[in-house]
Amino acid sequence: MRDYREYLGEILVPEDKLQSRIAELGSEISRDFAGLDNLLLICILRGGVLFLTDLMRKITIPHAIEFMAVSSYGVGNRETSGHVRITLDLNVDIRDKHVILVEDIIDSGHTISAVLDLLTTRKPASLCVCTLLDKADRREVNVPVKYTGFSIPNKFVFGYGLDIDDYYRNLPFIGVVDLEKYQSGA
Ligand code: IMP
Ligand code: MG
Repeated sequence: MRDYREYLGEILVPEDKLQSRIAELGSEISRDFAGLDNLLLICILRGGVLFLTDLMRKITIPHAIEFMAVSSYGVGNRETSGHVRITLDLNVDIRDKHVILVEDIIDSGHTISAVLDLLTTRKPASLCVCTLLDKADRREVNVPVKYTGFSIPNKFVFGYGLDIDDYYRNLPFIGVVDLEKYQSGA
């Protein structure tokens, strides 16, 4: 994998902005769910991992975490088609739990919509979505999103959990891929 600096278009969300927004989301969630038992954060692997681990440290009320993984088949690997498959399911019963789904990004909405449909059948006490990024212009299916970190334009982004062809999830910021530069050097 080539060095990301060769195709980084711009830094869309720098580390300090990410962290201060995540702290705000943590406070909001702590306030909204105060006094309720059975709060469960479900992270969608793999993109949501960095967001989850930072967010949970800003949530001041007791909660548990679980993981799910989903794969979606699309046109190339940068599009979602709407065919979503659960590749790692939960090991716990979510009945009567207050569930927050933690996602890296909502694009077409197909992925989160499929997960919401599945989890709804399991009768949680409540179910909502917390996404770090939202590309609202790209939405193909309507999904209710309770917490959003940042609304972003329709650009391919990477870093802070999001990958460019499986790499660079570790970057502490959200960067825009200059696709022309990325593809020309491939
Ligand atoms: P959706 O089903 O179209 O909403 O797609 C959501 C999933 O697509 C996310 O969980 C990401 O894995 C992936 N995705 C969408 N946009 C981007 C992007 O700009 N960079 C990296 N991954 C993305
Ligand atoms: Mg993802």
